[in-house]
Amino acid sequence: MIYLKTEEEIGLLRENNILVSKALAEVGRHIKPGVTTKQLDKIAEDFIRSHGATPAFLGYQGYPASACISVNEQVVHGIPSDNVVIKEGDIVSVDLGTFMKGFVGDSAYTFAVGEVAPEVRQLLDVTKEALYRGTAQAKAGNRVGDISAAVQDYAESFGYGVVRELEGHGLGRKMHEAPGVPNFGMRGRGPMLKEGMVICIEPMITMGSRAVVFERDGWTVRTKDRKPAAHFEFAVAIRKDGADVLTDFSIIEQSL
Ligand code: MF3
Ligand code: CO
Repeated sequence: MIYLKTEEEIGLLRENNILVSKALAEVGRHIKPGVTTKQLDKIAEDFIRSHGATPAFLGYQGYPASACISVNEQVVHGIPSDNVVIKEGDIVSVDLGTFMKGFVGDSAYTFAVGEVAPEVRQLLDVTKEALYRGTAQAKAGNRVGDISAAVQDYAESFGYGVVRELEGHGLGRKMHEAPGVPNFGMRGRGPMLKEGMVICIEPMITMGSRAVVFERDGWTVRTKDRKPAAHFEFAVAIRKDGADVLTDFSIIEQSL
């Protein structure tokens, strides 16, 4: 069942995703060599709570933290830890969720720590551009496969891997609603996009093979070949004439 949102509901989803954008900016400001991912999780949780929301990930299917923080070869769902210390040249994917006024916010951004290798910088730029290309397809009358194909074609044109085991999703009162939004697929296939749908588009792109391993902590997903991976996520409302992006990366990028 795909829920179509009213204008008011889209407004509440926007409030949540702007708060997530601000929380990502706050975490991003603190990503420096020597900080632990556990400390970054605390910053995220305090920020979300002090703005009248609760962290949507905490306790979700037993998830033990407020943020997912995935470093280098970790793709997504990295559990914050005292033992993971950020160092110069790392890439750090931060995925945050809020729950406020009955709705969920969910967005992610991958940060570079100081000077990263040029090929790693390119991985970040291409993953973000793949998200933008997918988003450009998120309009009423298109199909989910138009988004999927746009993401996949762009990422693969650079020889990168597109992770298939995880996907984007509908967003609303629940974090995961229908439809699923894969990052690979075919134009013209999949559910039709309708005005009022709200979805998360979230490419997970690897520098090497697309194969991933699910770690024994029950959460962390990493690349099998231990090459770096990037993850960017937008919440998007579908409009007649295009995508209405509810997440605001400019809030994050202004603070870098
Ligand atoms: N943001 C993730 C997603 O889009 C959810 C994180 S999993 C959780 O699916 F358990 F941490 F919530
Ligand atoms: Co998501």
